[in-house]
Amino acid sequence: MIDSKKIIIALDYNNSQEVSKLINNIDPNLCRLKIGKELFTKYGPKTILELHDKGFEVFLDLKFHDIPTTVYKACISAFSLNVWMLNIHLSGGYDMAIAAMNAKKDCQSNSKLIGVTALTSLTDDDCIRIYGCNRSDQLKRLKDIGLDANIDGFVCSPYDIDTLKADNKIFVTPGIRTNNNTNDHHKVIAPQEALKLGSNYLVIGRSITESSNPNKEIEKIVNSL
Ligand code: C5P
Repeated sequence: MIDSKKIIIALDYNNSQEVSKLINNIDPNLCRLKIGKELFTKYGPKTILELHDKGFEVFLDLKFHDIPTTVYKACISAFSLNVWMLNIHLSGGYDMAIAAMNAKKDCQSNSKLIGVTALTSLTDDDCIRIYGCNRSDQLKRLKDIGLDANIDGFVCSPYDIDTLKADNKIFVTPGIRTNNNTNDHHKVIAPQEALKLGSNYLVIGRSITESSNPNKEIEKIVNSL
């Protein structure tokens, strides 16, 4: 899968002025944008439309997880907004993943539907408590659900790609840093290293959004890849 636009900027803001300030100063030819629960819950679909108007493609990161019918309907709403990428929790099960895929088909959407396996915040102990198996086994179980439902790929830590690797699947990876600041991640990795491990798209938040010149930072990363 060759796509030279590998950077997805996480718009982790709670106010639209900061979003406008950022998007007026960055180039949609160099990156895509990710809208998560915080921004979407506050401002709703109009944010997506505004970003589209500025020429940006959008990853709607709402990590749907519910009964299949509800996820089907939520995905119909999301695909109807022409998002470039959407995600679900694979721990919602095979029927739920198929419901999301059916929504994509019924919308005749070219969006990418990707699955969350074990959240990167979960340790082995957490997985044993929640799922009754260690993290690596849980990743493998959820990978199988994703492959059986034929979703487009996975969102995961770059360090999980080895376990999840499969033909023709895309890997979207957060936890990317251009500095040594881990913030709330257990482990971080440089953009080039994440690509070497098999990442196709790099979700980058604070390394770009907190920099004094975000567009320059994006250009620097793009040139380093
Ligand atoms: O680069 P930074 O740490 O600021 O990026 C944080 C972003 O990565 C947040 O939007 C968060 O939701 C996202 N993330 C994710 N999946 C994870 C961990 C973080 O999408 N497993």
